Amino acid sequence: MARAKIGLVGAGQIGGNLALLAAQKELGDVVLLDIPQAEGLAKGKALDMQQMSTIGRFDSILTGTSNYDDLAGSDVVIITAGIPRKPGMSREDLLGTNLGIMTAVAENLKRVCPNAFLINIANPLDAMVYALKKITGGSKTHVVGMSGVLDTARFKSFIAMELGVSMRDVTTFVLGGHGDDMVPITRLTTVGGVPVSELIPKDRLDAIVDRTRKGGAELVGLYKTGSAYFAPAAAAIEMAEAYVRDQKRVLPCCAWLDGEFGIKDMYFGAPCVIGAGGVERVLKFELTNEEVGMIEKSAASVKKTIAETKL
Ligand code: APR
Repeated sequence: MARAKIGLVGAGQIGGNLALLAAQKELGDVVLLDIPQAEGLAKGKALDMQQMSTIGRFDSILTGTSNYDDLAGSDVVIITAGIPRKPGMSREDLLGTNLGIMTAVAENLKRVCPNAFLINIANPLDAMVYALKKITGGSKTHVVGMSGVLDTARFKSFIAMELGVSMRDVTTFVLGGHGDDMVPITRLTTVGGVPVSELIPKDRLDAIVDRTRKGGAELVGLYKTGSAYFAPAAAAIEMAEAYVRDQKRVLPCCAWLDGEFGIKDMYFGAPCVIGAGGVERVLKFELTNEEVGMIEKSAASVKKTIAETKL
């Protein structure tokens, strides 16, 4: 069977880490694309990692380009093209610039790889995925956003750090938009099967929820020149791997909702089954009144930003 082809649009901080993780996992051959002014960055990272493959022992072929035709036949395309936040900026502040970039990217992807599984990482996340779907005309199963896996990773890591336990034993998920009103579901959070509410006092848990919601801004504050890149890349690769290897993973993703959780005709974070069919299913469950309130608040923010795209 032919190898899968993984296209990466944007060869910056996240793009480079996506390439490395995809190659190390041998998800397929990797094509890194950036704008003509940054073609050297795409080619350089590809060459550097190809040389690393002799030491790291992976067989993926990596190439860099600024020509969209080189993405033809991609099975998966992950998009990070756009500008990241600087300190003091919200994700929504990126809309004007990143929507223009997304429009160009989406028009090209529609032309060269209309059937690829598209994973967007560019912010403001939920609105950018909406734009990607509208412009490419892609299906709801094949156009998705990476946010819930990252937000959940942050929530999990803070809980594990608080308790001094293995990250592997924390089970939880974060729903809603990729913004400050995202909804970590503490009620269903367990540590080795034990409800987290039995292990962490409410005030500490509230502080962890708050830190999770502001997790991206905490890193922008530390980096100063850009936003997070290791965890976002790993999160998107987990989604890409679920698709390429038909793993049927249950991952919180920014998916097109059709009435689930009372939300219709927009992108929003929800638990999804990802396999060879893309987003094969959205898992539904009963929310408490308090959770419904939080979901409605988050949905209102996402709706507002989506409306600003005028698409
Ligand atoms: N086509 C392709 N690539 C582009 C385009 C375009 N039209 N416009 C910009 N780029 C490239 C830039 O040249 C740069 O190399 O996108 C890359 C972005 O890389 P970084 O600036 O390092 O940003 P990164 O940290 O990777 O984040 C990218 O992800 O988390 C989000 O908010 C973040 O929207 C931002 C995106």
